[in-house]
Amino acid sequence: MNNILVASNRGPVSFTVSDDGELTVRRGGGGLVSGLSGVAKDDGVLWVCAALSDGDRSAVRLAPGGRIDQAGYDTGPLRMLDIPPATFHRAYNAVANSTLWFVNHLLYDIPNAPVFGTKFGREWESYRDYNGAFALALAEEAGHEARVMIQDYHLTLTPAMLRAERPDLRIAHFSHTPWAPPEYFSLLPDEVATEVLEGILGADHAGFLTDRWAQSFMDCCEALLGAEADRVGRSVTHAGRTTRIGVHSLGVDGAALWERACEPDVESHMTALKEQVGDRKLIVRIDRTELSKNIVRGLVAYGEFLGAHPEWHGKVVHLAFAYPSRHDLPEYREYTASVQRCAQQIEDEYATEDWDPLILNVNDDYPRSLAAYRMADVLLVNPIRDGMNLVAKEGPVLSPRCALVLSREAGAAAELGPHALLVNPYDVSGTAAALHDALVMPEEERRARRDRLHAAATALPPPKWLAAQLHALD
Ligand code: G6P
Repeated sequence: MNNILVASNRGPVSFTVSDDGELTVRRGGGGLVSGLSGVAKDDGVLWVCAALSDGDRSAVRLAPGGRIDQAGYDTGPLRMLDIPPATFHRAYNAVANSTLWFVNHLLYDIPNAPVFGTKFGREWESYRDYNGAFALALAEEAGHEARVMIQDYHLTLTPAMLRAERPDLRIAHFSHTPWAPPEYFSLLPDEVATEVLEGILGADHAGFLTDRWAQSFMDCCEALLGAEADRVGRSVTHAGRTTRIGVHSLGVDGAALWERACEPDVESHMTALKEQVGDRKLIVRIDRTELSKNIVRGLVAYGEFLGAHPEWHGKVVHLAFAYPSRHDLPEYREYTASVQRCAQQIEDEYATEDWDPLILNVNDDYPRSLAAYRMADVLLVNPIRDGMNLVAKEGPVLSPRCALVLSREAGAAAELGPHALLVNPYDVSGTAAALHDALVMPEEERRARRDRLHAAATALPPPKWLAAQLHALD
């Protein structure tokens, strides 16, 4: 039986099956996994996650009781759940990613979406089943009075379901996303909004990355449930139970990241990139191709910057790494296409025989991303809205002189804002001006700011985050 458990949709590893049936394992992506992988493994925490692909399902079937670690993989204690593919698809794609993600990141094209009809009713049923599968697995695996940390918008119902099964457990829920204000959250059908809020309130402790998102959650509990929120003591009381609300920022482990970024595969990508860009200045962005990351407006801003500053032609290159994400959703496929179209327009307008103003890459290459960070003069992070954004924290750790252009809507702005150049993510002219300011920032100022960014980014590395979560359950 386990004393500490973590549950999340995506786990620390994913599997692919080759044509000859061979399974290959690789690290999972995204902020949650980057933050938690190392610590969970080192501390012997049992991680419960879903099988996301055919490769994962094959791995689960070969592992006794879904325990991937017991099938000989060096993952740390890990149980993967083989949820029926149709249920998984509706829960993950239709509800979590197309509804709850869209609500909390304010992504809807309101005149046309959302539309909550009978189809959504079926999808919501699947989301319940999927949350129930996690609750059941956690109830089976958890020792008496164990501490269980349930992660993110995929698993909002699990805390209340698990409490009903195992009242002895100490349960935390943590949101890695922003939280919507009540007037936007209440786009959800009333009974769904209620179930989500009451699901999270089933935990003893509900955690958020910034005070802003915690306040929005409390606003929703007050407005939609009529719950009582204590803003000073940070708690919500509803239906006779009190849930404590916590704010726990997540930073990066600077030493581990630096060590990884000095490995030979990264060095050889640096050599290749240097050959490609010469001694030109580098504006870097690294994202999942994700609607909320605002990649298109970032490219439009770069185009405006080039239009306004011909003196920079031939002297700067924008490296935009936008690796694939959630391609089962048509919105994401269309978004990738519009990123590519926008990049092509910049190329058509400005490229010359000996200057490529923009290098867009839409495939995932972790060592190449680390190489880009190390070489960046400017890092552009301009999301529409973001829970935290670890890219904004990783860049200053790896680049000795990068200036950060950062959206004021990223959670990271709460800590990094004073040392970054903050922008309104919708204001592309303002973003273009900030790119220019970042490029011409005097050497002394950029190094001083970068040192302060580095300190802020590494102040709360994942082990501290985990310790704070566990402490909150004591
Ligand atoms: C965000 C979410 C994570 C998620 C990650 C990657 O960081 O908060 O829960 O894992 O995006 O998204 P994906 O859908 O690929 O797991």
